[in-house]
Amino acid sequence: MAKVDEKNLSLKTKAERFEQVFNNSGVGIFIVDKNRIIIEANDAFCKIFGYEYDEIIGKLALTLHLSYAAYVNFAQVAFNKVRENQALNLEYPFLNKNKDKIWLRIAGDPIPSNEQVLWTITDITKQKKAKEKIAHLNKSLQKELNIQLQILRKQDRQLQYQSRLVQMGEMLMMIAHQWRQPLGAISATTSYIATKSILKELEEEALLNEIQNIEEYVAHLSKTIDDFRDFFKATKKKEYVSFETIVKKTLNIAKPVLSTKNIVLSKDFSDGQKIYTYSNEIAQVILNLLKNAEDALCEKEIKDPQIWIRTYEKNNFICLEIKDNAGGIEKSIFDTIFQPYVSTKLEKDGAGIGLWMSKTIVEERCFGKLSAKNDELGAIFTISLPK
Ligand SMILES: Nc1ncnc2c1ncn2[C@@H]1O[C@H](COP(=O)(O)OP(=O)(O)OP(=O)(O)O)[C@@H](O)[C@H]1O
Ligand SMILES: [Mg+2]
Repeated sequence: MAKVDEKNLSLKTKAERFEQVFNNSGVGIFIVDKNRIIIEANDAFCKIFGYEYDEIIGKLALTLHLSYAAYVNFAQVAFNKVRENQALNLEYPFLNKNKDKIWLRIAGDPIPSNEQVLWTITDITKQKKAKEKIAHLNKSLQKELNIQLQILRKQDRQLQYQSRLVQMGEMLMMIAHQWRQPLGAISATTSYIATKSILKELEEEALLNEIQNIEEYVAHLSKTIDDFRDFFKATKKKEYVSFETIVKKTLNIAKPVLSTKNIVLSKDFSDGQKIYTYSNEIAQVILNLLKNAEDALCEKEIKDPQIWIRTYEKNNFICLEIKDNAGGIEKSIFDTIFQPYVSTKLEKDGAGIGLWMSKTIVEERCFGKLSAKNDELGAIFTISLPK
C-alpha cells in the first residue's frame, strides 16, 4: 500500500479525517467549556444518552447528571482533578434523555489553551446492572442462608431438649425398676412389724433389727438416685479411661433390667488400652446401644437373647463393639437410623432420637465414629475412638 504523505495533506483534509474519526468512534466523546457547557459531542455520545446532536449542544453538563448533588460531587472528584492535569478514569452514574440511570466509565483530558475538557465515555450500564443483580442475589442468598441456619439451630435445640427428655424418661424407668425391689422389701417389713405388734409378739430387739433393715433399704434407694445423677451428668474434662471401666459403670445401671429379661451378656476386654475421652458421655452412648439391643431382643421374642461386648484396636482407633442376636436392623431404615425421628417403635414409646444423639456425642464431641452393620445373627454397633 502506498504510504500517504502526511505532510502534504491539506488542513481541510486533515480536519475532515479527524471529524470522521470523531464521529465514527465507538467511544462517546464530548467537550465541555469552562462554563460547563457542552460545546461538542460525537454520534456515540448522542447514542449513549439518547439525545439528538442539536438537542444537547449548548446545554449545561448538569443536564447529564442524576441530580444537582451528583453534579457537584462529580465536579469535585472529577472535574477539578482533570483541570489539575491528573489522570482520571471513573465509573459514575448519569441520566439519559429518558431519565433512566446509566452507568459510564468516564475519562477526561484538559484542553489547556481554552480551559475546555474533552471527556470520553463508555456505556457500562449492562455490566453494572449485572453486578448489582449478582450483589442483590448474594444478599438475598445470604439472608435466606441466615434464615435457614436459624431454623436449623432452633431444630437442633429442640432435638437436644427432646433427647434430654427421652434420657430422663429412661432414667426414671430404670430408677423405678431398681426401686421396686427395695420398696417391696420395705413394705413387707412394715407389714411384718404391724402384724407382730397387733399380735403383741413384737420384741424390742426384733423391732430394732427390722428398723435397721429398713434404713439399709432406704440408703440403697438413695444411692441409686446418686448413681443415676452422676451417670447422667456431663463430664467437664476428658480423662484417660478404658472401655472396660466405662462399660462397668454403664452395667451398674443397665444390668438389673437386662437380667430380668434373661438377656445373657458376654464381655471380652482383651484390648485394655485407655482412651482419652469424656467417659460419662460415652457411657450414655453405650446405654443407648444396650437399650436398643434389649428392645429388639424383647420385641422379636428371641429365645436365648444375647448381647456380646468386645474391644479391639484398628487403625489407631480403639473400638468397642456391641452385638446382639435380635435379627438385625430393618433394611428399609438401615440407611437412615442415625437421623433424628427414625424409629420402628413409634407406636410404643420410641422417639427415634437415641442413635442420632449417640452419633452426635461420639463424632462431634469425642471425634470418633459410630457405625452400624448387620450380620447373620443381629445388629453390630461399633464405637471407634482415637487412641
Ligand atoms: N440393635 C438393634 N437391632 C435392630 N434394630 C435396631 C437396633 N438398634 C436400633 N435399631 C433400629 O434403629 C431405630 C432407631 O434407633 P434409635 O435408638 O435412634 O431410636 P428408638 O430406639 O426407636 O427410639 P429412642 O431411642 O429415641 O427411644 C430403632 O427404632 C430400630 O428400628
Ligand atoms: Mg433407642
